[in-house]
Amino acid sequence: MRRIDLLGVDEVADGEMKMAWVDGTDQVLVINIGGEVTAVQGVCSHEYFELDKGFLTNGTLTCALHLSRFDLVNGEPLDPPAEEPLAVYPVVIDGDRILIEVPDGPLEISES
Ligand code: FES
Repeated sequence: MRRIDLLGVDEVADGEMKMAWVDGTDQVLVINIGGEVTAVQGVCSHEYFELDKGFLTNGTLTCALHLSRFDLVNGEPLDPPAEEPLAVYPVVIDGDRILIEVPDGPLEISES
């Protein structure tokens, strides 16, 4: 397993999201809803579009390009045109840092 340090806890306020870079190439979106921190792939599974330009509503993340909403618990798309779920990464809070714990090797990212 790899533990990857993403951001400081104080860098993502409640109700906000922030992009972090992993391995210099992959983007991971860190989301704080009511103190619950979630990490999902930073680029939409439909086309290449950064999800930090989207919107958070009622536990979902809306992609700003074609307005698919994604469930933030399991990454599943709730509307077309996206069909593939976003990868959701297990978050570990270690002191004042936000980390994800993922299998060794390249970060899992789903795309269509
Ligand atoms: S790029 Fe996100 S829904 Fe199309």
